Amino acid sequence: MHTSIIRFLLPALALSACTAAPDGRLLSPDGDLAVAFSTDAAGVPVYSLVSGSDTIVRPSTLGFRLLGDNPDLASGFAVDGIEHSAHDGKWAPVWGENDSIADVYNAMTVHLTQKATGMKMDIEFRAYDDGIGFRYVFPAQAGTDSLRIAEELSQFAMAGDHTAWWIPGDYDTQEYEYNITPLSGIRAKNSNDQPGNVSATGFSPTGVQTSLLMRNDSGVYINIHEAALVDYPAMHLDLNDTTMMFTSHLTPGIPEAKATVALPFATPWRVVMVGSATDILATNIIYNLNEPCALEDVSWIHPTKYMGVWWEMITGKSQWSYTNAEDFDLATFDYSKARPHGKHGANNANVRRYIDFAADNGFDQLLIEGWNIGWEDWFGKEKDYVFDFVTPYPDFDLKALNDYARSRGIKLMMHHETSGSPANYEAHMDTAYALMNEYGYDAVKSGYVGNILPKGDTHYSQRMVRHYLDAVRRAADHHIMVNAHEAVRPTGLARTYPNLVGNESAMGTEYQNMSTQHVTILPFTRLKGGPMDFTPGIFRMDLGSFAPGNKEHKRATVANQLALYVTMYSPLQMAADLPEHYAEKPDAFAFIREVPVDWSESRYLDAVPGEYIIAARRAKGGDAWYVGGVNAETPRTASVALDFLTPGRTYEATLYADTPEADGHTNPEVYDITRRTVTSDTVLSIPMARGGGFAISVRPVDANN
Ligand code: NOJ
Ligand code: CA
Repeated sequence: MHTSIIRFLLPALALSACTAAPDGRLLSPDGDLAVAFSTDAAGVPVYSLVSGSDTIVRPSTLGFRLLGDNPDLASGFAVDGIEHSAHDGKWAPVWGENDSIADVYNAMTVHLTQKATGMKMDIEFRAYDDGIGFRYVFPAQAGTDSLRIAEELSQFAMAGDHTAWWIPGDYDTQEYEYNITPLSGIRAKNSNDQPGNVSATGFSPTGVQTSLLMRNDSGVYINIHEAALVDYPAMHLDLNDTTMMFTSHLTPGIPEAKATVALPFATPWRVVMVGSATDILATNIIYNLNEPCALEDVSWIHPTKYMGVWWEMITGKSQWSYTNAEDFDLATFDYSKARPHGKHGANNANVRRYIDFAADNGFDQLLIEGWNIGWEDWFGKEKDYVFDFVTPYPDFDLKALNDYARSRGIKLMMHHETSGSPANYEAHMDTAYALMNEYGYDAVKSGYVGNILPKGDTHYSQRMVRHYLDAVRRAADHHIMVNAHEAVRPTGLARTYPNLVGNESAMGTEYQNMSTQHVTILPFTRLKGGPMDFTPGIFRMDLGSFAPGNKEHKRATVANQLALYVTMYSPLQMAADLPEHYAEKPDAFAFIREVPVDWSESRYLDAVPGEYIIAARRAKGGDAWYVGGVNAETPRTASVALDFLTPGRTYEATLYADTPEADGHTNPEVYDITRRTVTSDTVLSIPMARGGGFAISVRPVDANN
């Protein structure tokens, strides 16, 4: 979209930005994106968005349906004034893909008054070069302390039947495969029998979740998501597939109002990203629309590479529980009288074995699930109280294991499964975090499996959005980093609370054999809001070979699994497979040992969602580069120009690649490792198998090193 014609027009457009205030026009700093705001004859707020010659959002209305005494805030508005401003800044994230992020935008605030009621509502727009954001701001005003919102009425009218990468609308899970269809094809494919961990709360046959990726006929990518989801329900999108108009659909909870907001109040930002495929991968607009870091001391927050006593339970080789529910008195929780079933993974000897392996190989932490009592009888039972988050099983010596881990130079990572009972977690949270402080844990993986209690609440309701952020804030008070599974999908809040180091909110490796295209879509969608604890690094693809009865085969090559450490950015990365499987392939494991989890610089070299992604990143504060490529179903040869290297310097590249026989479906465990000298002039030609990929470490070897 950034054609030379557009660049040529730039000076003229930039000039009009200075003179356009009265008519509600807002241009991006490069002049390519143009927002137009007005009110129609009925006083309905309307905006539209164009990018060069492409209409991105046709005229779309804005407003709210309210409950209670207040009439809807949907029409009858007069414009009191429009203010313009510009911002040219940058900020340094505590961890991230880049050590500095440019934050450059033009802004416009529209002040509205509803004539009949006197209600005041502002709409703030920001235009960046790679997208726009807008939000509603309700100033404090006489006579109205709060609003009860029945529905937000933000429209996003698309200009055509775009190709879309989408997952079904659902109030409880994002753990779906992506569908790739035209917008007009959503209805036919969208049903509650979509594969995945579906909780069947589909609200509309054309309802989808954000981030929603689309591409128009001229190849421009459009992505609708939200930023800074605070104190408000998550937004879904409902498509009118005749007009190709999306309307916001807020997630309901138990109260009649989807959101109750105390004034003054600002909604989350509604974001429309616009650009090429690699522009969408690289944009920081979601983080830029979030508030700066709210924590004064961030010295305790650190990128973390970890292993876990986990995959062995996921695959069924061992279990979280200590005994069987029928061999145990659930009334007394007295494990001394219980007969162990002998498959408890989190036992002292096994945990020590993992500690040794993780420490020997330079990991920072070891996650242990199933360390605490209660796993015998909880799943699907909808009990208010299952876990207390502090009492270990009899064969897990909390103090001795933490001491041993410390003596080996690593930390244990805490696990809090809340069993979908936020009230129980809230009641135990301070003692749970205090226990972590006592033993020196500084990171927790939390989870929200099952229907949210009390019955009728949902994972993405206003009440639960408050809960997740409250858990992160309270964790920060205890200097604890949080990785929350099954929580609401992230919206860039890690800028404000960088101890939010991970989320799940999509299908991760625990789905085992999800499609090969999945990892070529997530960086365009789910990852825009924040990092994912995807748990890559599986080396043994035939799961039945070590977990008796497991019929699944992971459809990814070893080289593909290595590439994920580069293509799926996260400051928290797991090596998910078992120590014995890494010991079988020490030469490939060397890449996982070496690859950093924090970066100074990132480049997205080439990508097509659903087909492949190739990314290069420079280690934080260092000279070494790491390149990753992941491929979906069609085998292809990637051409990788190393022109990001410093000219004149010499590097040694170690390439971990698919062999010619490799195939993610049928022959996934074969790989080739080669070394060669490279410079910034080198162009590598690298075959990628079906479900395959490659990983390269590029380290300087010249005198400047
Ligand atoms: C679901 C999480 O995604 C998974 O990683 C975890 O092991 C289980 N819940 C148990 O808490
Ligand atoms: Ca999960």
